Amino acid sequence: MPRMLLSVGYLSLAGAALAHNVTILSDAPVNQEITGLLWWVLIFAVIIFGVVAGALAYTIWKFRAKPGDNELPPQVHGNDRMEIIWTAIPLLIVMVLFVLTAQTLVKIKRPVAGSLPVEATGWQFWWDFQYPDEGLRTAGELVIPVGQPVEVKITSGDVIHSFWPPSLTGKADAVPGEDNYLRFMATKPGNYYGYCAELCGASHANMRFRILALEREDYNRFIEDFKAYEAPAPANEQAARGQQLFNAQCAACHTVKGTPARGVIGPDLSLFGMRTTLGSGVWDNTPENLKRWIQDSSAMKPSSKMPPFTQLSDTDLEALAAYLYSLKLDGFDFAQLPRY
Ligand code: CUA
Repeated sequence: MPRMLLSVGYLSLAGAALAHNVTILSDAPVNQEITGLLWWVLIFAVIIFGVVAGALAYTIWKFRAKPGDNELPPQVHGNDRMEIIWTAIPLLIVMVLFVLTAQTLVKIKRPVAGSLPVEATGWQFWWDFQYPDEGLRTAGELVIPVGQPVEVKITSGDVIHSFWPPSLTGKADAVPGEDNYLRFMATKPGNYYGYCAELCGASHANMRFRILALEREDYNRFIEDFKAYEAPAPANEQAARGQQLFNAQCAACHTVKGTPARGVIGPDLSLFGMRTTLGSGVWDNTPENLKRWIQDSSAMKPSSKMPPFTQLSDTDLEALAAYLYSLKLDGFDFAQLPRY
């Protein structure tokens, strides 16, 4: 029975990993470099394991106690030649790995000409994204073009976080008062998972993000439309009521481009209606989740900084949801992107 439970556990783990295709062994350019390094380390590890396990097995078999043999075997102390050999070989291996690692580090840290600058700032427990050249801002989901290197400047507004989209590149710490850089390129369109990879508080595990890689022309259209974006006039009474509520209750912390809502404490919600997730990449962006989130986000994400809004009636929540889902650019469907 325990064995069966274990198998089911392994299967569901494998299933979860497969469902999202998140892997550091992807063919994204930076990950290729890291994967190459990983193979070198793996080759040495396998050789060392083979030699050590083989020597151990041989010794156990060769020097086993034989029937009727009750004598102590010869006691050997020290062997200078062997000690030098088993010190020198690992030293050599470590030196080779050091050189390979240093080379890779230099290679992946090198600025890439023609890369797109973006800025990522970690906050407990969400990511703020900015396009400095365009003066645009989003949160939780960063849209990038396929086939152009992206240079992410990473910092933090409070404690140390770490920015990590595994299928695209390695990690970089987000440190208050310091800028770190990650450079990578998406080679195919997709919804790439990202994680905070540095323990940063109660909801560290719930501090995720997405990178949405779009084909060039879609990306250009996204940026142009976003630059020209003004929150649409409410389509109906419900959305108008939602906007009123939003401007009264939410505008102190959240921004919606082209409206009086200019708060910068919480995530920018200008394009909330396009987001595939809410609660920084943890929950699917559905009306049910949104209503639960507004009512009491800390029940969904421990230590969430957003206060509960339990005083809102169901009608109010529906109205807020109607308004928030109207905040989007037309002609995009991010839900269709394959997930990596
Ligand atoms: Cu932010 Cu862990």
